[in-house]
Amino acid sequence: MILPMSVLSKSELIQLYRRVSFSQKLHAIIRINRFPFAQIDSLVPKSGKILDLGCGHGFLAVYLGASSFRRSVVGTDISKSKIDIAKKIQSPKNIEFLHDFTNSAIKKKDYYDCVLAISVLYLMSEGMQKEILKKIAVSLKKGGRLILVEPNAEHAIGIMGEKIREFIMVNILRATKGESIVYHKESWWRKELGRSFSRIETSNFRESNLHLVYMCVK
Ligand SMILES: C[S@@+](CC[C@H](N)C(=O)[O-])C[C@H]1O[C@@H](n2cnc3c(N)ncnc32)[C@H](O)[C@@H]1O
Repeated sequence: MILPMSVLSKSELIQLYRRVSFSQKLHAIIRINRFPFAQIDSLVPKSGKILDLGCGHGFLAVYLGASSFRRSVVGTDISKSKIDIAKKIQSPKNIEFLHDFTNSAIKKKDYYDCVLAISVLYLMSEGMQKEILKKIAVSLKKGGRLILVEPNAEHAIGIMGEKIREFIMVNILRATKGESIVYHKESWWRKELGRSFSRIETSNFRESNLHLVYMCVK
């Protein structure tokens, strides 16, 4: 069992996935090695209820929960197989994983201190993206934060490569669940986020220069 309040190193996080299949372990190694944990962690409140929506195999939820015992972290995903893997790894007691195919976690009102959606919303139709943003805003407490990471459609050539890669992941390899692949420019996100959030700050995502991080305060 990991002791809470300890910042996990990348190799300690990778170790947690030692019992999963070879392909899943490979995916975890690649993603964990590139992921800017400290950047995202610095945007998340040190205490309170945290939701990692579309948490995949759960490594960010584990990192956030292990780095502050005062956080109560829930990781949800539409993919049952990913949640089954997340549940297999040994995580601190303040972290929970739920298979949530109807996004019921964001039906709660004024409940979360922070919701993260890291590289998730582009896998939805434009209508669903707008609906989910509204629901996330309702589910947050006043002053609560949404941390969103999305590809920035302003990088036309890079985005074309990203779209091909994601098409293969979603439709051919079926390694990622998604109903569509819809990218937007920063201006689109700012307009939609501006309907529900009073402050929006953008920064470069340290994993990839094609993505932006939106830190939104309700
Ligand atoms: C590219 S992965 C990112 C996973 C994780 N957030 C990360 O940064 O490693 C996208 C994830 O979103 C999940 N997903 C897709 N549509 C979803 C939805 N409607 N609700 C919840 N999760 C969804 C997929 O199953 C997948 O695990």
